[in-house]
Amino acid sequence: MSADALKREAAAMALDHVEGGMRLGLGTGSTASWFVRLLADKVKGGLDVIGVPTSEATAALAREVGVRLTTLDDVGGLDLTVDGTDEFDPALNLVKGGGGALLREKIVASDSERMIVIADDSKRVKALGAFPLPIEVVTFGAGATLRAVEKAAASVGLSGPLVFRSRADGSRYVTDQGNWIVDASFRQISDPKALALALSGIPGVVEHGLFIDLASMIILAGAGGVERIDP
Ligand code: A5P
Repeated sequence: MSADALKREAAAMALDHVEGGMRLGLGTGSTASWFVRLLADKVKGGLDVIGVPTSEATAALAREVGVRLTTLDDVGGLDLTVDGTDEFDPALNLVKGGGGALLREKIVASDSERMIVIADDSKRVKALGAFPLPIEVVTFGAGATLRAVEKAAASVGLSGPLVFRSRADGSRYVTDQGNWIVDASFRQISDPKALALALSGIPGVVEHGLFIDLASMIILAGAGGVERIDP
């Protein structure tokens, strides 16, 4: 089965956890897009839910397929967020932000009672870090922030190339919030909590892609079928 087909399988299984009347956080990326599409099919069949999108891309998709949208401020808390991930470890810590939406994704997941992460089996790792960690930084003083990230990483024993994310045309990647992203290749993050704490203390860092203690469950699709992983 192709990776895309596995992503669809995981997304389909997440629908079992959706009930009428729910307020849903809608993730970003190719796996989360499957969830939005499959959710739209249920909506067409009469399911009444409302969603908060985690990116402009997800908002556009939801509008296109007919999923009703609201904002976090209007809805007053979410029942469930369903989102993809770039990596997850055995403790269900995540690296997210490969699609650049980590800030809104973390705000939405943090305001949800539960977060279900949907993934194909390429996302399962023993230790986070092979996927470069996205760190969202404000544009003002971004060079200084980069140096501060380097120092913070060193304080927890990590080092590696830090690069500002670019678009395919070579221009700097800009997030939905108008910030830049630094991709940090630490290779192996042995203490994700310590790194998260160190990064959170840097003034120019808006948010980082380490999602600690946020995932309530992983729905993982692999060649052998779909597996549910609880903390
Ligand atoms: C978006 O910013 C990311 O956090 C995505 O959820 C993550 O990159 C997974 O994306 P795919 O489902 O496309 O692999």
